[in-house]
Amino acid sequence: MLFSLARQGDIAVVTLDNPPVNAISRAVRQGLLDMVEAVERDEGVRAVVLACAGRTFIAGADVKEFGKPPEAPHLPDVIKAIETCSKPWVATIHGAALGGGLEVALGCTARVATASASLGLPEVTLGVIPGAGGTTRLPRLVGVERAVDMITSGKPVKAPAGKAMGLVDEIIEGELLEGAIAFARKLATAPRAVPLSARAVVAPPEAFWTEKRAALAKSAKGEVAPLKALECIKAASEMPFDEASKVEREAFLALRASPEAAALRHVTFAERAAPRPPEMNGIEPRALKALGVIGGGTMGAGIAAAALDAGLSVTLVERDAEALARGLANLKGIVDGAVKRGKLSAEAAEARMAGVAASTDYAALGHVDLVIEAVFEDLSVKRAVFEQAARACRADAILATNTSYLDPEAIFEGVPGAERCLGLHFFSPAQVMKLLEIVPCKATAADVLATGFALARAMNKIPVRAGICDGFIGNRILKTTRAQAERLLLAGATPAEVDAAMRAFGLPMGPFEAQDLGGLDIAAFQRKAARERGETPFAPVADRLVALGRLGQKTRGGWYDYDEGSRTPKASPAVLEAIHLASKEAGITTGAFTPEQIQDAILLPMVNEGAKILAEGIALRAADIDLVKIHGYGFPRTKGGPMHWAKTVGDAARGFAPVHEALTALAARGLAAAPDEALLALR
Ligand code: NAI
Repeated sequence: MLFSLARQGDIAVVTLDNPPVNAISRAVRQGLLDMVEAVERDEGVRAVVLACAGRTFIAGADVKEFGKPPEAPHLPDVIKAIETCSKPWVATIHGAALGGGLEVALGCTARVATASASLGLPEVTLGVIPGAGGTTRLPRLVGVERAVDMITSGKPVKAPAGKAMGLVDEIIEGELLEGAIAFARKLATAPRAVPLSARAVVAPPEAFWTEKRAALAKSAKGEVAPLKALECIKAASEMPFDEASKVEREAFLALRASPEAAALRHVTFAERAAPRPPEMNGIEPRALKALGVIGGGTMGAGIAAAALDAGLSVTLVERDAEALARGLANLKGIVDGAVKRGKLSAEAAEARMAGVAASTDYAALGHVDLVIEAVFEDLSVKRAVFEQAARACRADAILATNTSYLDPEAIFEGVPGAERCLGLHFFSPAQVMKLLEIVPCKATAADVLATGFALARAMNKIPVRAGICDGFIGNRILKTTRAQAERLLLAGATPAEVDAAMRAFGLPMGPFEAQDLGGLDIAAFQRKAARERGETPFAPVADRLVALGRLGQKTRGGWYDYDEGSRTPKASPAVLEAIHLASKEAGITTGAFTPEQIQDAILLPMVNEGAKILAEGIALRAADIDLVKIHGYGFPRTKGGPMHWAKTVGDAARGFAPVHEALTALAARGLAAAPDEALLALR
């Protein structure tokens, strides 16, 4: 039974029980209508308490119905029925009232909540807007400005903040249901409040909307839904309720069917699934309280900061006293930054730093559950580190490497207890970036792997399992991105054109700007290693630039020139000359490219590499590749990641065949390698 109806004297208690989160399905909508009828029929009922069983109030719509045509009864009609019921309803909120859940609560006469509850309309994060009165009722309750903030950001508020703005009528300190019934009893005898749909709203002046539109255009990064939500709230403040409701519903239905919403749904579901992938079901992670970090450079300090944030204890080990002091200063810099941004109090920051153990002696790692190595990217240095760490750590302590490109099997060769070793590849800055590639070796035990996922959960990161190959998932595809960007240069595009086209696609930075920021030396070092392995990495222009000492912003010249103290890229004659020489050497005829052609020439080969990565089992799921590119490399969420995006190329019914054809055409012009057959096996 989805719904139960009980009586407490003259109060009806309607309880929804639809685990896990009481999501609104068609059956729930129908059930709510039936409950409205039932309480209307019962003359002894004077007010109604709407409560939910389990851990939360209604936390949104049923995900299983997303992307399908909406079925009657529709939520706006159900909410209207609650609002116009002759008996007042009290929404009784614990956990979260989100999306359709909060819209149901707005249809009720009043809302009571536990102090820990949160209330929000997060629809824009899924590429839609509230579609059942969120944009029309909320401004009538809390005012236009607060409604704009809540709806366009999608961020929920806690119940006490909700109380302050009038969204919550009463915070219940004691037993929730009892408090709600007492509240309903008061409502039953008081004069009935005017329903939200009949209330007036003060419309702000035009300048308010112009300002909000401009701010959102900046912060929404090309997403359509937040701006659409703003227009609906404007309509709600200027039109009669019923007309504004029609505007809202139409906008909701149009967005719901948009490619952007499909992409955001795909990403959101992939993100929710990532921390507990099905193949890890039932595998208990090892205990994880104390973390050791070896190396306090860029990555080590970031990893230590993320661990402190997660409530883990941290022991930092460095090679000498000077490096240790530098490592601690790096860590303190990050913690102080959090204080400056208001994320952490000065006292909490001080307590955190005081809790960090630091040493140049590996014996300090004797108690840790997991140690992460982040020393120089050099096989012999890393081997020596693990030889000492394995001796100093407990036999069941997990040993992890943060290597970017080296083979973890080679790093851990000969380390006693191969089952406890794995790769944990963080992204820079590690205290910020959400992605964590988890790289098992052949011998890695299942519970050690599970502990990698548990660490990601504790740090609030998105874990993706990656197999061993040069660059794992993310950096391997990055090599393709960069090689394609250079191919385009040889064929006549300029760095500025390539960067602009990729920014227009939605990336925060183009491939050349990004290299200038990070430094060209890292990839050059890695190409050198590849050549020593007998490979032939493709970077004809980058190799020339590195030979000229052009390593990026830090040398005031890379793919662009930079004035002293400036980060603004300027076209560089030296780079254009290097491109010209490389192009001549390769015997390529140059031409002009549209931004779309540039995007295709970079993105389609990335998809091809993704297909190979899947075929080789380096990634388990296409969605994992999407998560890696979105959370590690700035691929736009609104496009769903490269593998999701690929399905929107050409006729969706033909799967990846249009990508294969487009790549074949690019290959014929010398602009890409021939497509891999693995592409055609993808669905
Ligand atoms: P870094 O040069 O900033 O820091 C390395 C630190 O390791 C230095 O503080 C150094 O004193 C210390 N160290 C060197 N030998 C040591 C030893 N024997 N014992 C203890 N400490 C020692 O380097 P970064 O950038 O932090 O990189 C560290 C690792 O993380 C490398 O394997 C790198 O490939 C990887 N990585 C780097 C990323 C980046 O964007 N910088 C991203 C992801 C991984």
